[in-house]
Amino acid sequence: MQEDPTVFLNDYRPYPFALDRVRLSFTLAPRGTVVRSDLSFTPREQGADLALDGGEGLRLKRLAIDGREIATGDYTREGEALVIAGAALPDGAFTLSAEVEIDPADNTAFEGLYLSGGIFCTQCEAQGFRHITFYPDRPDVMSVFEVEILSDKPVLLSNGNPAETVAGRAVWSDPWPKPAYLFALVAGDLRAVSGTFTTMSGRAVDLNVWVRPGDEDRAGFALTSLVKSMEWDERVYGREYDLDVFNIVAVDDFNMGAMENKGLNIFNSKLVLASPETATDADYERIEGVIAHEYFHNWTGNRITCRDWFQLCLKEGLTVFRDQQFTSDLRSAPVKRIEDVQALRTRQFREDAGPLAHPPRPDRYQEINNFYTATVYEKGAEVIGMLKRLVGDDGYRDALDLYFDRHDGDAATIEDWLKVFEDATGRDLSQFSRWYTDAGTPQVTMTETWTDGALTLSFTQKTDPTPGQLVKPPRVIPIAVGLIGPNGDEVRPTEVLEMTEAEQSFTFDGLGARPVVSALRGFSAPIILERDLDTETRAFLLAHDTDPFARWEAGRGLALRALSAAAMGEEDENADAFIDAIGRLIAEDDTDAAFRALCLRLPGEEEIATRLAAAGQIPDPDAIHAARERLSLRLAVTHEALLAGIFDAMETPGDYSPDADGAGRRSLRLAALGLLTRVDGGLRAQALEREAGNMTERMGALAVLVSLGQADEALARLRADFGDNRLVMDKWFTVQPMAAPPADAVRIARTLSEDAAFDWTNPNRFRALIGGLSANHAGFHAADGSGYDFVADWLIRMDGKNPQIAARMSTAFETWNRYDADRQQKARAALEQIAAVTGLSRNMAEMVGRMLS
Ligand code: ARG
Ligand code: ZN
Repeated sequence: MQEDPTVFLNDYRPYPFALDRVRLSFTLAPRGTVVRSDLSFTPREQGADLALDGGEGLRLKRLAIDGREIATGDYTREGEALVIAGAALPDGAFTLSAEVEIDPADNTAFEGLYLSGGIFCTQCEAQGFRHITFYPDRPDVMSVFEVEILSDKPVLLSNGNPAETVAGRAVWSDPWPKPAYLFALVAGDLRAVSGTFTTMSGRAVDLNVWVRPGDEDRAGFALTSLVKSMEWDERVYGREYDLDVFNIVAVDDFNMGAMENKGLNIFNSKLVLASPETATDADYERIEGVIAHEYFHNWTGNRITCRDWFQLCLKEGLTVFRDQQFTSDLRSAPVKRIEDVQALRTRQFREDAGPLAHPPRPDRYQEINNFYTATVYEKGAEVIGMLKRLVGDDGYRDALDLYFDRHDGDAATIEDWLKVFEDATGRDLSQFSRWYTDAGTPQVTMTETWTDGALTLSFTQKTDPTPGQLVKPPRVIPIAVGLIGPNGDEVRPTEVLEMTEAEQSFTFDGLGARPVVSALRGFSAPIILERDLDTETRAFLLAHDTDPFARWEAGRGLALRALSAAAMGEEDENADAFIDAIGRLIAEDDTDAAFRALCLRLPGEEEIATRLAAAGQIPDPDAIHAARERLSLRLAVTHEALLAGIFDAMETPGDYSPDADGAGRRSLRLAALGLLTRVDGGLRAQALEREAGNMTERMGALAVLVSLGQADEALARLRADFGDNRLVMDKWFTVQPMAAPPADAVRIARTLSEDAAFDWTNPNRFRALIGGLSANHAGFHAADGSGYDFVADWLIRMDGKNPQIAARMSTAFETWNRYDADRQQKARAALEQIAAVTGLSRNMAEMVGRMLS
């Protein structure tokens, strides 16, 4: 009988010992790495047992208290814990010394200490340290660390400042108390691209981006991004770096994007390495944003960490919010906002609407690694955006200053965070706190009434039940509204209406003529806003709204309505209005190209499906795909000359540069290409694929060719040019199943899975292929169930090697129960097949269990 592994927020108890200091010594070897530890404890409760985390993978060689070896009878090892009875402990402070042996070469889960291409590296968040040695592996146990590394690898790194380095031995000392999840160690043959940064108080910090020999020429952008991040955090948040050195290491095998280990960030190489020939504009923007994100964690995550893993969004939501602000400042704020909203709607709204829905601060989990989700990260950031909107920029600044001041050195909670805002601004946030504790996306309707110069806006809010939460009390919803006069002038600037009731009205009076309402400006709250708006008014807002988000949203509303209607086999007048209005908008030469590109791109198939499901309909993936194809063709036929002009005008002049301006032009050019292809038979895409001087256009053209079934030569060429470049080959593996005509997608994915280069144990490669297919909506949801079976087989295989990756990729199924009965039956069978596997990981068992419940 398996014990229920559920952990509950309410069961939190402080650790009964203080950990005053930690000394670690590693003698590295692929098999038989020896880890010696000295942990100095002081009891906080009389007689408490000492419980340490550490599973069967640890071969215990020696265990001693204050130098005296302890007998096997004095401790127990059960499952993932080692417990020493309180009676066997000294009365006061003591040092527990252990020696264990581990095998990094066998670590295929990439949690704890493992090898990536001959480089020793670690990943300890959330609970990897327990695979290195016995330890109270929980974020509220913080300590200073001294780490010795013995190895013949040329570069030996750990957290903090270097204390001693000679060939074969390095000692690192980290003066800042930290939990074990921030521990890191790297040993390998690495080369640094280096710089220095002088902090606001005049301290010089050495900066290094460590890569494999030969990759140095692709690391410069990461280093520049780091310097910009350090400057920005000083200027905007007053936060200074606090060690003499900041190291970033790129490794090829990494489960997530990157990790903020104190002073030693470890990155997935795809978020470090970039050159114009190998990386796209999107890659560059992502690298800049993630370098910033991990750097910003030094304050929001490391100096102030989380009391327990339920509080994950305390550091992640805030750090995402900060990296979003950073990108807005460096690039285009409206474009960044629209991109973030799009990502939220495609990933988080779908999560919130299905069996995996959970609040930004969950109150239970079986496997914490399953909660590094769009809800914790992206919705967590939206919640902070709302807080800032409610208390204003000055209130936000005061609250953050107080947060850093009050909680520096703490392992804090969401309650601490909200209290800081209450104390700094005098606001009562008890109702607001529901955004942290309640799951689901509120659906808000807005209606208007107009009488005698007064406009009344009436809102209702409701949130559907989510797993474990049937009743949803009303939330505080900041709704930013502006009023626009019939001639297009703004008659009332943006005002934030604070909705707190289930139903509520707000009146604007003293108005001459009836204005048009621009609502939810800047996407002021993560809600679904439904308003009964006629086609002309939407077109008017697309032409005149002064708020760029709302302007884009008006066009999206037209397209989404047209596409949803077409996908349900209905006629809709929105299509004509959309085609018409979009023609005028893309012809506006002085409007930002990136913004025009966003307006020109039709909503994705996944987003259309989510919208239909939210409206109580059953999405048909094939009909959605066909509807989108038809609207694209109509756009292309109507605006062929205009699009051709844009395609030519948006050519990259001279040298490629990954800045926002150039990226925006290429984005508009590729959006035009995607449409023109439907009328030029693929001629432009063929030419661009051969001539492009940068990876952005080369990949953009290649994706078009794949969708046309004309990509054989281009794919062979890309492989010939970059067969030895893992990151480019990942793109090669993704684009084929993702951009393929849906009917071919599963067959293509199957063929690729037999390719010699499909090294599936590499997380990036696995994600490239399996994620590529999952992103092809009508392909993955093929009516015959072949997409479900193919993905399920690979998830089962991966689960035996790397449960985190398998569980994460299983979210391809999270929407399974919104489709027709036939698809549901096939998806359920695939999920049940996974559930039936003996020895299934806790990660996967939880995911499949939640999806099937
Ligand atoms: N803290 C990292 C970040 O967001 C994520 C690491 C999560 N890793 C994991 N295995 N859950 O920057
Ligand atoms: Zn993070």
